Amino acid sequence: MTGLSRGLRGRTAMVTGGAQGIGAAVAERLCAEGCRVVILDISADAGRDTIARLHRQGHSAHLAVGNVTDTAAVDAAFAGVPASWATPTLLVNLAAGFVFKGVEATAADWHAALDPTIIGLSHVTRAFVAGLPERNADAAIVNMASISAHIAQEGYLTYNTGKAAVLGFTRCMAQDLAPRGIRVNSVSPGTVWNASNERFHREVLGLDRAAAEAAPEHGGRFLLRRFADPAEVAAPIAFLLSSEASFITGTDLPIDGGYLAV
Ligand SMILES: NC(=O)c1ccc[n+]([C@@H]2O[C@H](COP(=O)([O-])OP(=O)(O)OC[C@H]3O[C@@H](n4cnc5c(N)ncnc54)[C@H](O)[C@@H]3O)[C@@H](O)[C@H]2O)c1
Repeated sequence: MTGLSRGLRGRTAMVTGGAQGIGAAVAERLCAEGCRVVILDISADAGRDTIARLHRQGHSAHLAVGNVTDTAAVDAAFAGVPASWATPTLLVNLAAGFVFKGVEATAADWHAALDPTIIGLSHVTRAFVAGLPERNADAAIVNMASISAHIAQEGYLTYNTGKAAVLGFTRCMAQDLAPRGIRVNSVSPGTVWNASNERFHREVLGLDRAAAEAAPEHGGRFLLRRFADPAEVAAPIAFLLSSEASFITGTDLPIDGGYLAV
């Protein structure tokens, strides 16, 4: 872990959707790398639990409760960064709209899908960039895409459209922000075994993790024949934020156990 700490120690990171799931693992990993972490999340209860856990581990973590689609809440989150902390120079955009609809999707469905995933992402990025110098910012952003950004999946029109847009947003932002010394990349995980996926597989498919990973149409789609743990997504995100990735911008890193390779 120490090799990847380069450039991360003492930095302040903003992590949206960091109260649980992959985001909580990202917050924990960045704390372990020596960052101070602000979690911006709509869930106050989950956020408080995660912050309390990070504090018990001796880390510096702060919760901003808010919706990424609400510009006032986003601005308040940046304004509320503890005064003794450095200005945030690391941003991880994980909050997303989890709406899985096909052609029947209504305007409300499309807003619920795209507003957090794309409009919210743009609000947070705008507020983050506003706090950075015009040149040599030495800052980095990682946006959360998905294997769903790259493929078609039945009934996933709304979700996959949003995730595909994250790839375009990432490339355009990388171009616009490069002159200021801000790198922008995305990651595309496959299935990550968190509480929501555990619930979905159990309640909808009647499968526990071992059974789901053994099934050809689920775990069998990954070359590694298994799902990822949240920490396995957090580690490459920490890498992309670190100075180890200083010449990487405008690209997407699949974290997918080989899913997209075949
Ligand atoms: N779990 C997977 O298999 C998987 C795979 C690929 C990509 N992803 C992506 O990873 C990210 C995290 O997913 P997860 O599975 O860990 O989800 P999760 O449901 O465990 O966590 C999502 C977090 O985002 C917060 N959130 C949701 N909408 C918000 C909003 N509008 N404003 C602020 N916070 C909001 C939630 O409160 C929650 O804490 C998402 O972008 C998701 O699309 C997940």
